[in-house]
Amino acid sequence: MIKNLYSMKNKICLITGGSSGLGSYIARGFLEAGASKVYITARSEDKLIKKADELTKISDGECIAISGDLSTLDGVKKLVSEINAKERYIDVLVNNAGIGLGTPIKTMKVEDWDKTMDLNTKSPIFLTQALLGMLSKNATLEEPSRVIFISSVAASIVVPSVLAYSASKKVLEHLTAQLALAVSDDFIRVNAIAPGRFYSEMTRRAWQDPNAESFKAELKKIPAHRYGDENDMAGVAVMLCSRAGAYFHGEILNLDGGYRLTF
Ligand SMILES: NC(=O)c1ccc[n+]([C@@H]2O[C@H](COP(=O)([O-])OP(=O)(O)OC[C@H]3O[C@@H](n4cnc5c(N)ncnc54)[C@H](OP(=O)(O)O)[C@@H]3O)[C@@H](O)[C@H]2O)c1
Repeated sequence: MIKNLYSMKNKICLITGGSSGLGSYIARGFLEAGASKVYITARSEDKLIKKADELTKISDGECIAISGDLSTLDGVKKLVSEINAKERYIDVLVNNAGIGLGTPIKTMKVEDWDKTMDLNTKSPIFLTQALLGMLSKNATLEEPSRVIFISSVAASIVVPSVLAYSASKKVLEHLTAQLALAVSDDFIRVNAIAPGRFYSEMTRRAWQDPNAESFKAELKKIPAHRYGDENDMAGVAVMLCSRAGAYFHGEILNLDGGYRLTF
C-alpha cells in the first residue's frame, strides 16, 4: 500500500526551471516514482536537453525539454501553446523557476523589482491560470491534479538585503491559499513548498567552498546543521503530488531544517 501511495505512475507533469537545482531534483523524483512524462523548461537549451536526456536514461518515463524564457507573458504563452500541442491534459504543474537578486532598499533599482516580480510571481500566476483547463481534464475527487509553488524561507523571515525576493515569495504563499479555494471544485489541489538553504546554482557562491568560514557559520545556524539536498526536495514533492498528499490543499510546507525558527 505504502508504495502505491507514493506512486506517480502514469502522471504527466510540467516543471518550470528544471535544468538545474530544485526543479531538476523534483523531476528526478517524479520520474523515479513512475511518472510517464515530465516536461522541464529553462532558457539555456543545451543544458536543458542534457538534463532531460540524463533523467530519461535513469527512469522508465520520459523527460522532455521545452526551452523558453518565462520572464515575460509572451514566454508563458509560448510554453502554454507548446504543452497544449503535445498533451490533452496534465496532472501536475510545479512553478519553480525563479531568481533571487540582491535588492536592499537604498540601492534597489525599479528594473530589479520588476525582474523579480515578473519571474517569481506574475509568470507563475498566469501560467497556472492558462493551464487550469488542462489540469482539471483528468482530475478526480480521489486523484486530483496538483499545482505546487516553490516559495522560500525568505517569505517567513526578515532579510532586508533581498527585499524584492522576499516580497515575491510572500505573494506566492498568499496566492496559494486564494487559488486553492478558487479551484477546489475543479479537483485541483494547490500547495507551496518553502525551501530553506538548498544546494543549487542559485546558492553556489555560499557552498562551493565547504571550508569557507561563512558556510560553516551558516551550517551552525541552521538547526538541522546542513543544507537541503536532492532527496529532501524530491521526497516532499513526490509526497505532495502522489496519492499520499492528495488531502493537502492551500498548505505551505516549510522545508528548511528549522532555519526560519532562528530569525
Ligand atoms: N536553492 C535554494 O536554497 C532555494 C531556497 C529557497 C527557494 N528557492 C527557489 O527554488 C527555485 C529554483 O531555484 P534553484 O535554487 O534551483 O536555482 P537554479 O539552480 O538557478 O535553477 C533555476 C532554474 O530556473 C531556470 N530559469 C531561470 N530564469 C528563468 C527564466 N527567465 N525563464 C525560464 N527559466 C528560468 C534556470 O534555467 P536557465 O537559467 O537556463 O533559464 C534553472 O533551470 C526558485 O524559485 C528559488 O527562488 C531556492
